[in-house]
Amino acid sequence: MNIENIKKQFPIFNNKVHNNDLVYLDSANSSQKPQVVVDRIYDFYTKEFSNVGRSVHYLAVAATNLYEETRSLVQKYINAKDPNEIVFTKGATEAINLVANTFGEKFLKEGDEIILTELEHHSNYVPWHYLRRSKGVQIKFAEINSEGEISLESIEKLITSKTKMIAITHLSNVTGAILPIKEITQLAHSKNIPVLIDGCQGAPHLKLDMQEIGCDFYAISCHKMYGPTGLGILYAKKKWLEALPPYQGGGGMISEVKKDGITFGDLPNKYEAGTMATAQVIAFAESIKFLNQIGIKNIEKHESELTKYGEEVLRKNNSVKLVGSPKNKGSVLSFTLDGIHAHDIATILDEDGVAIRAGHHCCQILHDKLGLSATARASLGVYNTKDDIDKLNESINKCKKIFDR
Ligand code: ALA
Repeated sequence: MNIENIKKQFPIFNNKVHNNDLVYLDSANSSQKPQVVVDRIYDFYTKEFSNVGRSVHYLAVAATNLYEETRSLVQKYINAKDPNEIVFTKGATEAINLVANTFGEKFLKEGDEIILTELEHHSNYVPWHYLRRSKGVQIKFAEINSEGEISLESIEKLITSKTKMIAITHLSNVTGAILPIKEITQLAHSKNIPVLIDGCQGAPHLKLDMQEIGCDFYAISCHKMYGPTGLGILYAKKKWLEALPPYQGGGGMISEVKKDGITFGDLPNKYEAGTMATAQVIAFAESIKFLNQIGIKNIEKHESELTKYGEEVLRKNNSVKLVGSPKNKGSVLSFTLDGIHAHDIATILDEDGVAIRAGHHCCQILHDKLGLSATARASLGVYNTKDDIDKLNESINKCKKIFDR
């Protein structure tokens, strides 16, 4: 894998930040976009634009075909059984809201229990919290161990006859822990409980196989997968998409509309109300092709080596404390620096062109548990190199000097 060649495919790296080369270490927040994705959006709007699924004119038919081609590409990429199990949404957040709302409406009542973990980011907590308010369901949190991991046992001990859903992250955006989602799904299914996986951080970095994992729902954020913003994907087993009610009402999702009643469209249209993010869906095909060209296994290997290197370098740096040390870890390096606030670290690093994220990373429950108000986080993508880690470390040293640490 030639990272320099891969990096050249991302036009953002041609720009300087405060007169420095950009060291982009914020891919868990959002990844940069390869030229092919940017070009595809431009070409679609300038040469091929039409709304999809409605008109019969040339442009409309061609655009509809392209839109459906992306659905098939995604199906193959995640090894779903059927393209109709792929629903486009405006983001992973909407995908999780879709499940919480429709599942809650149809299947949940007061006293039912939902299991989450302390690692969840707000997108996989707040939608379930609404159900606590509207339906009186209970939320239980599986606790992290001292390494910042979630074990199968921590979930198992929370399961009761009232458990109706287990909704968990694939890969923590703070500790980097990769959860044993296949084993958790098997356990849940042995007790007839459906499983939703929040794949925001898993999908960009790990090989996905829905049939092997066996989960019922898997939410994907396309802008973290070298794709456009405003687009997410909900994978859901067909039996659920058939059983659950529609989420939003509007054009495109109906079959017949009469004054005295409405019938809904076939899958997946039933869940795609209104004009969709057409250009984004069509451009996302290029992200999938980009990932396929490099090979997700190669990406996994590269990022895992780089994460290990990052851990080594930061561990050697006095006063840097890494947050979490899971055995099975994704490409996230969260840390604190004695006596220096995370926002100060991020601001000083930025002067060197080093882009990291600081704050609670939409994980306030986890930060409360860790007794921290904020952490600094470097997160990696396919374009990062050891040199980027070295620059991160140099900038941290500069920060320490400024604060006399
Ligand atoms: N986008 C959020 C992150 O940076 C959740 O991890």
